[in-house]
Amino acid sequence: MKVLSVASEIYPLIKTGGLADVAGALPLALSGRGVAMRTLIPGYPAVKAALGTTRHLLHFEDLIGVPADVLEAKVAGLDLLVLDAPALFERASGPYLDTDGKDYSDNWRRFAALSRAGAEIAWGALGDWQPDLVHVHDWQTGLVPAYLRYGERPAVPSVMTIHNIAFQGNFSAAVFPALGLPPHAFAMEGVEYYGQVGYLKAGVQTAWAVSTVSPSYAEEILTPEFGMGLEGLLNRRAFDLHGIVNGIDVDVWNPATDSLIATNYKLTDLRNRKANKRAVERHFGLVEDDGPLFCVISRLTWQKGMDLVAAAADDIVAQGGKLAVLGSGDAELVAALQTAAARHPGRVAITVSYNEPLSHLMQAGSDAILIPSRFEPCGLTQLYGLRYGCVPVVSRTGGLNDTVIDANPAALAARSATGVSFGPVTLDNLKRAIRRTIRLYGDPKIWTEIQKQGMTSDVSWDKSAALYADLYSSLLPKGEY
Ligand code: ADP
Ligand code: GLC
Repeated sequence: MKVLSVASEIYPLIKTGGLADVAGALPLALSGRGVAMRTLIPGYPAVKAALGTTRHLLHFEDLIGVPADVLEAKVAGLDLLVLDAPALFERASGPYLDTDGKDYSDNWRRFAALSRAGAEIAWGALGDWQPDLVHVHDWQTGLVPAYLRYGERPAVPSVMTIHNIAFQGNFSAAVFPALGLPPHAFAMEGVEYYGQVGYLKAGVQTAWAVSTVSPSYAEEILTPEFGMGLEGLLNRRAFDLHGIVNGIDVDVWNPATDSLIATNYKLTDLRNRKANKRAVERHFGLVEDDGPLFCVISRLTWQKGMDLVAAAADDIVAQGGKLAVLGSGDAELVAALQTAAARHPGRVAITVSYNEPLSHLMQAGSDAILIPSRFEPCGLTQLYGLRYGCVPVVSRTGGLNDTVIDANPAALAARSATGVSFGPVTLDNLKRAIRRTIRLYGDPKIWTEIQKQGMTSDVSWDKSAALYADLYSSLLPKGEY
């Protein structure tokens, strides 16, 4: 079957978070399952620079107010359709924020244009390639199913995946007339959301099926605590809501072959992790010793519990541990972590940047990765941790709950433990989890066992790609696939 995926970022061309990893890995994982996926992405400067040879496929004279073209390119095994609209996407800063860290004021237009182009391609604008189904990701593409629903053209099945319900893409009702939707679409059963235009709401409302990135999160977003205003609508659509846990690209993330780490290693030679630990310590200016090295690789936000990490740093140090943080985000949280680092030179350090190679080295060299998220649709860094023998210490929420098995006595006895989990998310509970982790680390036999269980757990896309393929098939006319 032919599937058009529409996403606002895709690894390895442009990435601000896990969405890019998923958008980049899923087409490859599905290709062995009879699904030919092409992905429509915006032509940001970083994307255009990576394209190589392109073919011009389509021209729009007026796509939500601007001219635009669609180019075809093949990069890293991905079949890309690039929306080349310089007025919208050629910006000096990142995909969503200007140089001051504020949302671009025309984000409503930028992602309405991406969505409109997706809908046109779904209806067959490319001529020789018409998808059987469209799969869209997060608020930036939420208008695709809405355009399809209101377009009065042949119906095209759609799947809307929620990666993070905290970002909803709500804009003033004043933009509605420019979207090219019929007036009756501005209604509760359409794109209207508390008096505004809600892009994610529109997608959840109008897509044929809705999914999110773990079974636990699919349940959580039905509650007011996690649904962030969309719980009512999601409950009405609960029958069409699917929780499919993310996998990772096990070729990109493979400690036996990873060229971004100091020394490669396998399950059978875990001692080789030590050279990576030394390399991490050197990068961060930490003392080189065998105490437990905790790391954090994260957006530095409240969602990720980074205030708690800053507050727990003293405890880690008091127990002979060290902490290396790689991340960027909220200024206050950066400052809190920097203060913790200043209190403990050589024991706590932070690198404020986005550094993909360093993130690989940290997974290969740290003993444990801290992920005390307050909510986490799936989370990928715990999966990389499992794969690299970097034991995840996680809060019991969303995808973290579905992918890490706590080292409680029963799991240790059954030799199934892969990490440490705690809940609810409080500073005391995080500190207790850290203490428990350090105790486990102190027993090399048990620690190695936990590392090995993690490294052999299936974090690939295999099972989840099959679930997506089944979901797609269920939306197509019976017997067709
Ligand atoms: P989210 O998408 O909510 O930020 P995920 O855990 O799903 O969380 O995905 C985050 C992705 O971004 C992972 O691939 C992680 O390794 C990467 N990442 C986060 N912060 C950094 C950073 N500062 N440098 C390099 N990679 C990072
Ligand atoms: C979002 C979520 C994260 C998830 C990622 C990919 O950014 O915050 O939990 O892993 O999307 O689905």
